[in-house]
Amino acid sequence: MKARIVCLPGDGVGPEVTAAAVAVLKAVAAHCGHAFEFSEHALGGCAIDACGEPLPASTLAACKAADAVLLGAVGGPKWSDPAATVRPEQGLLALRAGLGVYANLRPLSVHPELTALSPLKDDKLDGIDILFVRELTGGAYFGAKTRSKDAATDECKYTVAEIERVARRAFELAGARRGHLTSVDKANVLETSRLWRSTLDRLAADYPAVKCEHQLVDSMAMLLLTRPASYDVVVTENLFGDILTDEAAAIAGSLGLLPSASLGDGACGLYEPIHGSAPDIAGQGIANPSGAILSAALLLRHSLRLEREAAAVEVAVARVLRDGPRTRDLGGAASTSQVCDAVLAALAAHLSAAQTYADPMNACCG
Ligand code: NAD
Ligand code: IPM
Ligand code: MN
Repeated sequence: MKARIVCLPGDGVGPEVTAAAVAVLKAVAAHCGHAFEFSEHALGGCAIDACGEPLPASTLAACKAADAVLLGAVGGPKWSDPAATVRPEQGLLALRAGLGVYANLRPLSVHPELTALSPLKDDKLDGIDILFVRELTGGAYFGAKTRSKDAATDECKYTVAEIERVARRAFELAGARRGHLTSVDKANVLETSRLWRSTLDRLAADYPAVKCEHQLVDSMAMLLLTRPASYDVVVTENLFGDILTDEAAAIAGSLGLLPSASLGDGACGLYEPIHGSAPDIAGQGIANPSGAILSAALLLRHSLRLEREAAAVEVAVARVLRDGPRTRDLGGAASTSQVCDAVLAALAAHLSAAQTYADPMNACCG
């Protein structure tokens, strides 16, 4: 198949991990006979440096015309002066809003060979398989902001329509998994959360096969550590989802492991690892590319509907997590490119084996 993929490497380790993800997508295309066309555009701090704005109109236009967008990370100390009026992160938020990708899927599983890297004990790690669905284009991130000398405000607003669309997506995903949806809010304090909760309760009638329960966000932060294996799909608003998923990444062993897919109503999705630009290790070539490569797998699955290719990439990453080499965050000493090369080798081996055993009329990835 043909697909246009826009790459937004961004700042810090963004370009380092995106290069690995693109190499994997190119290998998939070569092995499986697809024609992926890549174009690179500026987003974030590098775009501020180049043209004074974090999301140039040309970048947004290219993303809107693409079949999928692959993003690294944006931000860093160079652009983090609290007095700055233009910030890299504004570009990312404007991109998410501009593409209308309101549902951010962040899957968490714990690789059996990495349990020693988790802060949780082994008995807590068995059977962890959570899909976080984070609302991505509303809430405090997008409300009106005010600032005076002595005070500041960030408005947190949600409409019923905004809650409904992400909640329906979460109910559908839960229905296709283990039928268990946990909605996380702060309904004991926040009006937006009470609207969130009543909207979920009303929609639940449309999904009788899904058991929907509510959990307050503070206790959810605790339960994620004490009984993580008891969750299936977890849906929550923008800010709570941001915080809970970094906590979830720690459970997996490293922030560098978790991928994400941001989806709207169209086919074009935005795919990015959940980590940031990692300024403390940027430029050293030692960032873990797994989250970025697994995001490329989600791109294959959700935007290009290439399920077998997506699964092949996931198998290849899992093999490298098992056998090494590993980057420093996982206790190893390998570089980003050494891990990428190992994933490419595992992918080639996996796809060739699949080809050998497959029906020749339906070979490789078809
Ligand atoms: P961060 O995610 O960049 O880093 C937190 C810690 O995790 C650091 O110690 C870092 O070295 C480590 N880490 C992150 N990714 C890693 C990887 N792939 N391999 C190995 N280690 C990794 O969070 P931060 O330091 O709080 O934020 C830095 C900048 O990144 C900020 O400007 C923030 O706004 C931005 N940020 C951007 C995104 C994004 O573009 N999607 C996401 C989060 C943070
Ligand atoms: C993430 C990041 C972003 C967010 C920042 C950089 C705006 O932390 O993608 O998780 O908070 O959404
Ligand atoms: Mn985050």
